[in-house]
Amino acid sequence: MAVIGQDISQAKGFLESGKLVAIPTETVYGLGGNALNPAAVASIFETKNRPSFDPLIIHTSSLERVSDFVKSIPEPLFLLAKTFWPGPLTLLLPRKEIIPDLVTSGLDRVAVRVPKHPLTSSLLASLEFPLAAPSANPFGYISPTTAWHVEAQLGEKIPYILDGGNCQVGLESTIVGMEDEEIVIYRLGGLEISEIEKIAGPVQIRDHSSSNPQAPGLLESHYAPRKPFVLGDLDLLVEKYTKENKRFAVMSLSRSFDQIGSDLQIQLSESGDLNQAAQRLFASMRFLDEQDVDVILAEKMPARGLGNAINDRLKRAAAEI
Ligand code: TXA
Ligand code: MG
Repeated sequence: MAVIGQDISQAKGFLESGKLVAIPTETVYGLGGNALNPAAVASIFETKNRPSFDPLIIHTSSLERVSDFVKSIPEPLFLLAKTFWPGPLTLLLPRKEIIPDLVTSGLDRVAVRVPKHPLTSSLLASLEFPLAAPSANPFGYISPTTAWHVEAQLGEKIPYILDGGNCQVGLESTIVGMEDEEIVIYRLGGLEISEIEKIAGPVQIRDHSSSNPQAPGLLESHYAPRKPFVLGDLDLLVEKYTKENKRFAVMSLSRSFDQIGSDLQIQLSESGDLNQAAQRLFASMRFLDEQDVDVILAEKMPARGLGNAINDRLKRAAAEI
């Protein structure tokens, strides 16, 4: 078992000695290690069971510090950083040599983010190095949004979990970079595209179904529960699985169904608030995955606000490997 607490100096001590610490952020919990120490970075991959071709995001405490790790910041991305950091935005920037190859899987760009959480901000400000931190879940599983989610799966493997409560955004950061003069979104996430476009103008969204993804967060099957997860029209699905005598659970935005007990259905937001739905999404998927059912049924969200990013995660959860 990991120690779960709020002691920044203890967390700092572990990180300085090359160990890993789970850190809260506004998006999801991260599995943090010294990004400049290749041995610590290697142990992140090992702890998560993550393939080494899947690069890591580095986290630091301010935009000013980012120039220690990157050669330059294109003007439109600088504007985004100034506007949205600290926050759920990750930028792909040309890396300096100081960043180990393992962090970027040998790519020329490094992913950088300044997260927004008081505990993690203080921790990062107190450290001499940035933290490499993927989401603190075994590779391919649902990202953690509470300290207990981390404990349940990685608690045996790490000494400390910094407990910052429930993640406020609940979806991973939006990943943004530039190709030629164009702004490209590589992963939909907790910062809405419309917010980005207000500051930086029109963007391109990368086709996620690429068979050779730049970012394995973009692999078709990812963020997935262990139980079969079926996405579609809930009226039809509930009817079908009732007829087949299957035990099922339901995750909807705001509807309820008489065919099953209230303990096996989750409304992500009764008022239809997509920010609330995002905040509750991963904890709900985990909860339903633990129930005694054959299958989890879910519906897509309206395609507005964070609905698009939620739908991206739902599609990957439903994809077959
Ligand atoms: O909100 C978040 O971004 C969370 C918190 C902890 O900050 N982190 C997170 O990390 O979601 P992870 O490792 O689970 O997802 C990072 C994604 C991966 O899909 C990875 O392939 C992509 O970012 N990525 C990282 N560095 C990259 C690079 N240099 N080029 C392209 N994609 C990159
Ligand atoms: Mg992840």
